[in-house]
Amino acid sequence: MTLIDKLDAVLVRAQSEYSVANDQESVEAVRVSLVGRQGELPALMKEMGSVAKEDKPLVGRKLNEVKKGIESLLAAASKKVEVAKKQGAAIDVTLPGRKRKLGVKHPITAVIDDIVRIFRRLGFVVADGPDLEDEFHNFDALNTPKDHPSRDVRDTFYLPDGRLLRTQTSPVQIRTMENQKPPVRIIAPGRCFRRDTPDATHSMNFHQIEGLYIDKKVSLADLKSVLLEFAHEMFGKDVGIRFRPHFFPFTEPSIEYDFTCVMCKGKGCSVCKGSGWLEISGAGIVDPQVLENVGLDPEEYSGYAFGMGIERIAMLRHKIGDIRYLYENNVKFLEQF
Ligand code: PHE
Repeated sequence: MTLIDKLDAVLVRAQSEYSVANDQESVEAVRVSLVGRQGELPALMKEMGSVAKEDKPLVGRKLNEVKKGIESLLAAASKKVEVAKKQGAAIDVTLPGRKRKLGVKHPITAVIDDIVRIFRRLGFVVADGPDLEDEFHNFDALNTPKDHPSRDVRDTFYLPDGRLLRTQTSPVQIRTMENQKPPVRIIAPGRCFRRDTPDATHSMNFHQIEGLYIDKKVSLADLKSVLLEFAHEMFGKDVGIRFRPHFFPFTEPSIEYDFTCVMCKGKGCSVCKGSGWLEISGAGIVDPQVLENVGLDPEEYSGYAFGMGIERIAMLRHKIGDIRYLYENNVKFLEQF
């Protein structure tokens, strides 16, 4: 093979190798193998010395031609790689599509949304209050005695300035009544905080939803009917409700209310510990003192209030055995809902 043939062969190789080089590294590898210090072209240039004098101009011209050819092939290949990079790499249309996972509502958000939807239909509007409360709204105005155990630093998170993380959504009752004349019919979902040691049923931060209805001549029967309607909407028509006497500083009478166990429909199972009933939360008729604390005349107005634990309802709904699952943000867990 003459030197001219060899030079032609280098150009042919350059053409075919640059045409398949589609990233920066392979373009560079081809360049090195052709014109790098150990490359093919420099090696051929060394052979120039042994070319006959009369052939030198011809071979020299060929050499230049091949050199230029390789340079422009390199430039074109580099440009191609750059453009492909800008367009987001070369697209292989034969690859199967990648499925994008759709996000889902967190079970707590889903429960809040459902409860809000049900109470809105019953004429309630959503109210809001701050997570960081003062003692007046969280305790004093709610008729909570100065020595009530819930005020203890072992139960409530206090800030150095005396404010606190609300321990319940009940302060929203006070804030609403301060700002709005009756009739008042609100629900207030939100975060609450207590100094509990975390276990399967306790978390230092959890959610409640507060309900409040203030009007003329509101009775315990009104409370029972609205909670029963809620129970039916949330858990089905065969769920019943019962009241048990209890105590809260801000309601009189106070009750705790239970729903028929949604797992066993009242027959008795491990979730309801054989009783057939599930404790949902507290409620009662708003204490006249609380109405006075916000400047309402208890002779003219009366009302009921209730609270619900959101986590408890989410856990019942999805048969979740440990509250901590709701706060671990484990995608494998959350994906199930
Ligand atoms: N705030 C009470 C609690 O956290 C629940 C409650 C709300 C009771 C409204 C009565 C009325 O336990």
